[in-house]
Amino acid sequence: MSTNVRPESMARITTPELANAFIEEQVNEVRAQVGDKKVLLALSGGVDSSVVAALLIKAIGKQLVCVHVNHGLMRKGESEQVIDIFGKELDANLIYIDATDRFLNLLAGVSEPEKKRKIIGNEFIEVFNEEAQKLEGISFLAQGTIYPDILESDGVKAHHNVGGLPEGMEFELVEPVKLLYKDEVRVVGEALGLPHAMVYRQPFPGPGLGVRCLGAITRDRLHALREADAILREEFDNCGLAEKVWQYFIAVPDMKSVGVKDSKRYEGWPAIIRAVNTKDAMTATIEEIPYSVLHKITDRITAEVDGINRVLLDLTPKPIGTIEWE
Ligand code: XMP
Repeated sequence: MSTNVRPESMARITTPELANAFIEEQVNEVRAQVGDKKVLLALSGGVDSSVVAALLIKAIGKQLVCVHVNHGLMRKGESEQVIDIFGKELDANLIYIDATDRFLNLLAGVSEPEKKRKIIGNEFIEVFNEEAQKLEGISFLAQGTIYPDILESDGVKAHHNVGGLPEGMEFELVEPVKLLYKDEVRVVGEALGLPHAMVYRQPFPGPGLGVRCLGAITRDRLHALREADAILREEFDNCGLAEKVWQYFIAVPDMKSVGVKDSKRYEGWPAIIRAVNTKDAMTATIEEIPYSVLHKITDRITAEVDGINRVLLDLTPKPIGTIEWE
């Protein structure tokens, strides 16, 4: 498969059997391409990079070097999951970089959304490049490019993705899932033994919680957002909404209102729930969350998360509201 055009004859991968056949074919191709050389992969923990990592570990084991950059804007537990699954379970050659301070220091006081995105994107490349330059004998760069990225019809990733080749370093690309659609990547991921929750993970923007901690990010508000978001995800898991809703998250604006806690005035931020359904992220509708679930989430967030004193629900479809608040 040397061209970027998906042949008409290529059957969609819908079953474990087809996935296994694809995996076997790719394992052979990757081995033939790479030989005994080393391959570098930026492993975010998202579906595409995770599936590529698992596939390459199967094909070339320790010749793959995975770099996971924690920019401090991950959801709760995500970096830990990458370390558990790839570092421990799959025994991958994994370099974990906690760059939280670097990112948050650069972002301090920056409230303009595009500026925040730029800082996060540039710093990601910077950190990744620094790490790549420390490594010796890397000849290939693996990427979780999927077919919609090539078609540029995705509309989500094309203009968003962070990353880039280290300056002055020439790598040949290894892109084993570049002819697959997202649903096929998921089937392949499950056949490779990755956890269901990782393979069916909802989309998460490259700049992570940076686009949901609105205005200038502070550590305390970012922490509140991460905890509130974890509660939302847990409750969606518990009531079955996690399997049904395309994307759901919390945004926390940079504003406070008055509340009352333990008979004392309690100023806090609102946590805004957003839960949307869409096919292509260009338009989106609102999921109708049962009130009992909303009450449970509100009770838990206001009781368990320091600094949050209200929970709001965003009922705005796209258009007119974008999915993210930014
Ligand atoms: P908006 O807010 O534009 O978002 O309605 C549409 C979809 O794009 C996701 N999104 C991103 N995805 N990197 C990504 O891979 C990014 O930087 C990024 N920013 C937004 C957003 O979560 C939604 O699903």
